[in-house]
Amino acid sequence: MSEPIQRPDFGGPFPEHIAIIMDGNGRWAQERGMRRVFGHREGIASVREVTTACARMGVKGLTLYAFSVENWKRPRVEIRYLMRLLRRFLVEERPTLMENGVRLRAIGRLETLPDEVVRVLRETEELTARNEGMVLRLALSYGARSEVADALERFARDVRDGSVDVAAIDEETLRAYLYDPEMVDPDLLIRTAGEMRLSNFLLWQISYSEIHVAPECWPEFREAQLLEALESYARRVRKFGGLISEGPNSVSKAREQRA
Ligand code: IPE
Ligand code: IPE
Ligand code: MG
Repeated sequence: MSEPIQRPDFGGPFPEHIAIIMDGNGRWAQERGMRRVFGHREGIASVREVTTACARMGVKGLTLYAFSVENWKRPRVEIRYLMRLLRRFLVEERPTLMENGVRLRAIGRLETLPDEVVRVLRETEELTARNEGMVLRLALSYGARSEVADALERFARDVRDGSVDVAAIDEETLRAYLYDPEMVDPDLLIRTAGEMRLSNFLLWQISYSEIHVAPECWPEFREAQLLEALESYARRVRKFGGLISEGPNSVSKAREQRA
């Protein structure tokens, strides 16, 4: 396994779970006079670099928005290219995932993906299941509203079958019905390509995530840009609706640091 790298110290908190909306592949390619799909291909290099850097810095979870339920609206050729790329990624990245102790999982309506993608996905999940490092979650055919709808459907079935009581529903029970109940809420949500929207990503889980929007398109988002996001996160004051007056993340400490 590769050596861990020193976690950068920006004098503030470090996120345990990072979620990324990888946007701007098409624009990146078109700005260079290339077809959109070249941006998707180049984006794989960013996935590799960011995943490896996070794993080696000791991030516990990284969730990447790779394909949304809405992305099925795209031209057939682009979807076909993305699915081919995904299938290749899931096979070719196996040595890198193993070397860095990464466990791969997926969230989304996986049954809507091509069979061949599901097959290699399951194989890679199995191969990496016993790794003890970071969990890399790929959001595939994912929509936050579909996730909540799917969760409610399964909950309703359990109520009908008598295995759960309606009165049992609370935030934690609902979480247990989400695609991956083990996933903790992201501390930091990054979106690339300067876009200020959530595009139906993890709406339940990001209630209190800190948001960082990077101007770079995803193929240009590498370790240096990740470090900028981590630096920005370290300056945030997380209060979760409460008031914090003491401690390393306190309002007064943050003001001191900004001064
Ligand atoms: C993100 O890049 C990748 C996917 C959504 C699959 P885009 O393909 O959305 O690129 P832009 O945003 O059109 O530039
Ligand atoms: C969000 O990007 C989905 C992924 C990154 C997979 P989109 O490019 O699909 O989002 P919109 O259409 O700009 O909101
Ligand atoms: Mg986009």
